[in-house]
Amino acid sequence: EKQGFKHYMLKEIYEQPGVVRTCLEYYLRDDWRPDADFSPIKLNLSPALLADLEQVQILACGTSWHAGLVGKYLLEDLAQIPTSVQYASEFRYAPPPVTRQTLTIGVTQSGETADTLAALELELHRRANLRSELQPRLLGITNRPESSLGHLVSEIIDTHAGIEIGVAATKTFVAQLLAFYLLALDLAWQRQTLDHSRLGAIIDQLRQLPAQVEQILESQERYIETLSHDFADTQDFIFLGRGINFPIALEGALKLKEISYIHAEGYPAGEMKHGPIALLDAKVPVVTIAMPGIVFEKVLSNAQEARARDARLIGVTPMEEQEARDTFDALLPVPEVDELLSPILTVIPLQLLAYHIAARRGLDVDQPRNLAKSVTVE
Ligand code: M6R
Repeated sequence: EKQGFKHYMLKEIYEQPGVVRTCLEYYLRDDWRPDADFSPIKLNLSPALLADLEQVQILACGTSWHAGLVGKYLLEDLAQIPTSVQYASEFRYAPPPVTRQTLTIGVTQSGETADTLAALELELHRRANLRSELQPRLLGITNRPESSLGHLVSEIIDTHAGIEIGVAATKTFVAQLLAFYLLALDLAWQRQTLDHSRLGAIIDQLRQLPAQVEQILESQERYIETLSHDFADTQDFIFLGRGINFPIALEGALKLKEISYIHAEGYPAGEMKHGPIALLDAKVPVVTIAMPGIVFEKVLSNAQEARARDARLIGVTPMEEQEARDTFDALLPVPEVDELLSPILTVIPLQLLAYHIAARRGLDVDQPRNLAKSVTVE
């Protein structure tokens, strides 16, 4: 069943080019051109769900919450809709006041996470009861449309990622990210917030992602495996990113702590100087995501601040960037793409890094201690 892979997690990491390809095949219209009078995306959602939205709120846990953070960035940047992202477990006991026409999105790969389901149920009932003109609008993003989530909400984006067995989410995360790209682009088209040539350019770049993910897997796995030997005794890791790659820093840290039991923290790189920099010394590696774009120079200078504390610097960055090459001690190269699309690529080396560090330590990668694939209790 593992098809020659040592663990399901590694198999699922390798399934990602196919997952991205399948999801795009389902939802991108081949006949769309920038001058077309229809959306390039076919999500099959009812028009009433998305009409006249004033805000979006995303409810999720763990890795799905990280996907939601990327989603917020996309919905705000592409479709100009104010978006909040909340831990479902927090939302349950402190939901914000009901005010405007809101789309509530529950993101869960299993479709069975108790906190996420309860938060969605709460939203459904309180909107229906409190203000009749503000009918609840609920959307689920999942790879398990047959799950409890599927019964609770009437509209679903099925990511078509299939069942995931490894407790550490990998392919389902990448598929959730894609769902947010598609939703944000569809809303951008409906609300006319994006120039059609930019929309066309983003779609062209989405189509290149499967090959780019493949390229990262092919070119880097062996190197990352070797690099993982250096962290046999490491006790702490820091992950830095900014903007749309800040959630990927959080995700890199979560993957590592979950399966290797190494303490890892993700931070927005600009926050380092407000406290976490005190942790740094030669024993704490710092993994930095530095993609050309609006925060590129800033992130590099944040990484250089870490170097001044003797930290070992590992960079997820394009090979072409000389300044980045000079900044980092070890490089995990990714193709140079539009910053907006980069999370789907930058997360791949971080998954491999977490996997190889844990596998090297001889740990049970697919079933880490204290964790379950679906958290069906509060
Ligand atoms: O099934 P869900 O997406 O609702 O699960 C949420 C979290 O429990 C899950 O993402 C957890 O953080 C993973 N083990 C992360 O790898």
